[in-house]
Amino acid sequence: MRSYRPLIAIAALAAGWSLAQPQKDTAVPPYKDPKLAVEARVSDLLHRMTLDEKVAMLAGSGWMESQPIERLGIPAIKMADGPVGVRAWFGSSAVTNAATTPRIASTAFPAGIAMAATWDPDMVAQVAKALGQEVKALGRDMILGPTVNIARQPLWGRNFEGYGEDPYLASRLVVAYIKGVQGEGVIPSVKHFAANNQEFERHRIDEKIDERTLHEIYFPAFEAAVKEAGVWSVMSAYNKVNGIYCAENPYLLHDVLKKQWGFKGFVISDWGSTYSTAATVNAGMDLEMPGGEPMKAWLARRQTQADGNGAGWLTPDKVLPAVQSGQISAAAVDDNVSRILRVMFTAGLFDKPHAGGGAVDTPDQKTVARTAAAESIVLLKNDGDLLPIAKSVHSLAVIGPNAAVARTGGGGSSLVRPNYAVTPLDGIRERAGNAMQVTYSQGVSIPGEDASKDSASARARLRQDAAAVAARSDAAIVIVGNAPSVESEGFDRKTLSLPEGQDELIAAVAKANKDTIVVINAGSPVAMDPWIGQVPAVLSMWYGGQEGGHAIASVLFGDFTPSGKLPVTFPARIEDTPAYGHYPGENLHTEYAEGIYVGYRHYDRASIAPLFPFGHGLSYTKFDYSDLKITPDKVGPGRRVQVSMTLKNSGQRAGAEVVQLYLHQAKASADRPPEELKGFRRVMLLAGQSQTVTFTLDPRAMSFYSVAKHAWVAEPSVFDAMIGASSRDIRLKGSFELTAR
Ligand code: BGC
Repeated sequence: MRSYRPLIAIAALAAGWSLAQPQKDTAVPPYKDPKLAVEARVSDLLHRMTLDEKVAMLAGSGWMESQPIERLGIPAIKMADGPVGVRAWFGSSAVTNAATTPRIASTAFPAGIAMAATWDPDMVAQVAKALGQEVKALGRDMILGPTVNIARQPLWGRNFEGYGEDPYLASRLVVAYIKGVQGEGVIPSVKHFAANNQEFERHRIDEKIDERTLHEIYFPAFEAAVKEAGVWSVMSAYNKVNGIYCAENPYLLHDVLKKQWGFKGFVISDWGSTYSTAATVNAGMDLEMPGGEPMKAWLARRQTQADGNGAGWLTPDKVLPAVQSGQISAAAVDDNVSRILRVMFTAGLFDKPHAGGGAVDTPDQKTVARTAAAESIVLLKNDGDLLPIAKSVHSLAVIGPNAAVARTGGGGSSLVRPNYAVTPLDGIRERAGNAMQVTYSQGVSIPGEDASKDSASARARLRQDAAAVAARSDAAIVIVGNAPSVESEGFDRKTLSLPEGQDELIAAVAKANKDTIVVINAGSPVAMDPWIGQVPAVLSMWYGGQEGGHAIASVLFGDFTPSGKLPVTFPARIEDTPAYGHYPGENLHTEYAEGIYVGYRHYDRASIAPLFPFGHGLSYTKFDYSDLKITPDKVGPGRRVQVSMTLKNSGQRAGAEVVQLYLHQAKASADRPPEELKGFRRVMLLAGQSQTVTFTLDPRAMSFYSVAKHAWVAEPSVFDAMIGASSRDIRLKGSFELTAR
């Protein structure tokens, strides 16, 4: 039997006795008792800590470790990026990419944008569970993800990491992710709070964003993570919001996150995003990262400073004097430390440390990665039902810079090194077997990857070869898109266009073979106007992780009926995009002048026809929408409305449809968008099968954020409920009235 004395210690605490001096007690203290409530453990431990020990915990001890306190047996929180696979934790990219650094391999799951294209919270939950298992298996405690920043404009280098342009879609998915990871006793960190929507000058840019826009567009995914999933950690962003760095922004961290939403976990800084001591602690930023010697070495590099990183502000030599001079209160330090400890106890880090040595990339995890990748693929165009590939096709040309290379993710801190990755070409060859002749031609290379192929004449030669291969094949598949050198954390894309030479390649192949299928392997919208009219079929496979090659083959050959839908609008031209003219800002300032009109809200209001609308995605089967019912059709304040309909698979094969519910408030004291997503459901149906799909609209779904009241308000009005297969393919429409009483 263990001999601890929890009751005595709790009584001591209740009586207000201070236990702040180092203890020499050999009995096991209450905070080590897993059966004791978390809050009691936190308060017991806090009372045993000296001020020095508490202050030490406010900054990291290494690149990805928090400060352990050995005297009390407080372990370090061991972190890793995030968000779609476990990445090496030994240092900045310069360190992890070095040949001498040990290799950490884990499953590369599809990128965030691909997960969003599944519109399937259950799938996201499965991926998140697998991620949690791998984090533990590798001996880490925390994964730095998910990224939920909204795709404000298509050039942002990290659009591929996030869940797209709509706050409701992002909210549903982040809740699934957080629950999946936390269910494994692993700490997620929803990032980057808030409004990290561009890489251009990300360390210095000051974004002017109005209160309503923050609450309606940029906050909801974080709010849902806190309120619905009880997320354990939130990462602050690099940028400034309304003049103040996010890591020292009291409005964001204290007023909204902690007070309004009731966040109980800890805020962690993004790596190198702090610029002050007292202001940062007082705003409610709990744990500064990175720390220790790795931080010092990194900060000393000229490039780190030139980029505008800030670090080393919450080290004891800076915090202690600020406490002693009264700039930081002891209560503020206690609050920060309590939050870190609360999460550590809740996650079980004291009781069941993650020793590592477990299996990663298990058969189950690979299956999850493959299914998620298949679900994410969006069939954008399929004239004459060219797809799935017909039995009459005996020879296939597989062409393009992304055909024989597995582009599993975009660049930066999210890029995972998997044990293996299936290229589209390998996936197609494996599926085609001996029955079909598959011929590969690169067609063009990604600029910078092979200097010998970057000249105009080399491109012309490659293109000619590809066109010749296409001409002698029954059909051609051109796999184009971006690469980590084009689409990455750290910089924005310069243009919506595909990398040099790809438009010309597609046009040349399409001319050589009328049955040309284009597959886009990229994490954000790309311009297609130079060739979209010349090709019958187009798919987006995003960055599908290590199983992307198998997934795209299964869709091309019809083993998997495509069901993905666009989580972002694909614009026809950059000039049409919401933030055009307000991005990237001038003199380190940018105004979010488009306000709440982000994504389809903008295209709808401005009556701009996008290339492909938000929510769009075709299938190999056919779905009929009928029997819209709205009950009740008049409802008082605070009540819910049920919207139901019947979905029938009237086609020839099994498949899933993502049914989408949009709402519009007919009359309001504030400007309301023509439609806003308020419900969706991915429904799998066999050929001929029907199902009733029911949505519940709660008061929040009917509300807008009132700046006058600083709160969400549902005003009496008629509301139009629109159900469709995309934001521009509404099949059923009805209405209900929210009455004043
Ligand atoms: C990124 C974060 C990442 C962190 C640690 C930062 O540069 O913005 O998303 O988690 O580095 O690698």
